[in-house]
Amino acid sequence: MMFASKKIAHSLLIASVLSNFAHAVSFDGQYIQPNLTNTAVEWWWGSAVGASQSPGTPGPVLQFLFYQGYSILADFNHSSLPEYYITINGFFSNGNNFSLTVPATSGNISEGNNNSVTGTWGTVGAFQISSDLKTMAVTFNAPDAPYRISGSMNFTSNRANHYGCNVTDSPYFDVVKPVKTLNDAEQVLFNQLGWAVAIPGGTVNVDVRINGTRLQFTGNGYHDQNWMPLALNEFISSWYFGFAEDTSPPTMLCCKINALSTGRRPRISALFALPARWLVQKARLRLPAGR
Ligand SMILES: *[C@@H]1O[C@H](CO)[C@@H](O)[C@H](O)[C@H]1NC(C)=O
Ligand SMILES: *[C@@H]1O[C@H](CO)[C@@H](O)[C@H](O)[C@H]1NC(C)=O
Ligand SMILES: *[C@@H]1O[C@H](CO)[C@@H](O)[C@H](O)[C@H]1NC(C)=O
Ligand SMILES: *[C@@H]1O[C@H](CO)[C@@H](O)[C@H](O)[C@H]1NC(C)=O
Ligand SMILES: *[C@@H]1O[C@H](CO)[C@@H](O)[C@H](O)[C@H]1NC(C)=O
Ligand SMILES: *[C@@H]1O[C@H](CO)[C@@H](O)[C@H](O)[C@H]1NC(C)=O
Ligand SMILES: *[C@@H]1O[C@H](CO)[C@@H](O)[C@H](O)[C@H]1NC(C)=O
Ligand SMILES: *[C@@H]1O[C@H](CO)[C@@H](O)[C@H](O)[C@H]1NC(C)=O
Repeated sequence: MMFASKKIAHSLLIASVLSNFAHAVSFDGQYIQPNLTNTAVEWWWGSAVGASQSPGTPGPVLQFLFYQGYSILADFNHSSLPEYYITINGFFSNGNNFSLTVPATSGNISEGNNNSVTGTWGTVGAFQISSDLKTMAVTFNAPDAPYRISGSMNFTSNRANHYGCNVTDSPYFDVVKPVKTLNDAEQVLFNQLGWAVAIPGGTVNVDVRINGTRLQFTGNGYHDQNWMPLALNEFISSWYFGFAEDTSPPTMLCCKINALSTGRRPRISALFALPARWLVQKARLRLPAGR
């Protein structure tokens, strides 16, 4: 724990420098500047969940992450790793899974009128958010081995954008921070882990070819992005989130994030929707306490 705290204290220096950069103009734009000499990370995430095609079998799922930097960093010197990449994983309708990471030569965010954003990951992938945050178009273009993915996804939102904890004024968790002196990890968790939910719910059309198999469906869509000055494993011990589904598309229901801490662990839970049927999809990321 001493070791972790010292590392975090050192990293906080980087973190406070980086917070000067947190000024995206567009809601879904660039909030922090990950690069090879810092530990910042920012990612644009989206998921599509289709209906089950036979009883007892889960429906198809596709999720993508357009990454700048590393959410789990094993070594602060990551200059031998690609800074920009796309990870894509999920399940075909028959239950078989797929998981791939496609490196890119660049990860460029350009902010246009109002809230429009274009992300260009080298030649292998791109996304476009419309100025009214109502649509997102995603394309994958790495058809050759070893990646073998190509195709597109089109999201149409049916909910208003918001930040984490369903607020619209701050992208950070400062609104729920406990009234006490925060330790170093908690300061990053509550003040510098950003969360912008551009598409809390809606529909998505998916048509991609992955390793020779076509995955085509219309499902429930969700898109958000996160950014932070440190890799998750530098300040978080665990992260849970859940989706809820009612008659309309699912939306994020709750999240619970624990900071690395020697004392009391903070807890964030927020309710974003009242579910009729719930937890159709649940993901859980358990991180080592320290490293
Ligand atoms: C990387 O980001 C840091 C801020 O964290 C900045 O000082 C440095 O100039 C950046 N380096 C490059 C190559 O952009
Ligand atoms: C970081 O990694 C690069 C590429 O592997 C290497 O050239 C460099 O010496 C490393 N720097 C440190 C401080 O270890
Ligand atoms: C993915 O499929 C492989 C092969 O069937 C299996 O071993 C693995 O557990 C699956 N992974 C997940 C996350 O379902
Ligand atoms: C990133 O986008 C900006 C604005 O469109 C453009 O000026 C710049 O050349 C692009 N950079 C790269 C590396 O593609
Ligand atoms: C600008 O964005 C807001 C949402 O943030 C939206 O309500 C508005 O319609 C947009 N205006 C245009 C012209 O797209
Ligand atoms: C997404 O929209 C683009 C542009 O209209 C279209 O070419 C593409 O076929 C669409 N993809 C899906 C899966 O609907
Ligand atoms: C791609 O499909 C081939 C068979 O067509 C299979 O041998 C290979 O393991 C698959 N690759 C991945 C990454 O699933
Ligand atoms: C989230 O915010 C929206 C807009 O302010 C509001 O309509 C909705 O009731 C809120 N949901 C919850 C669960 O607080």
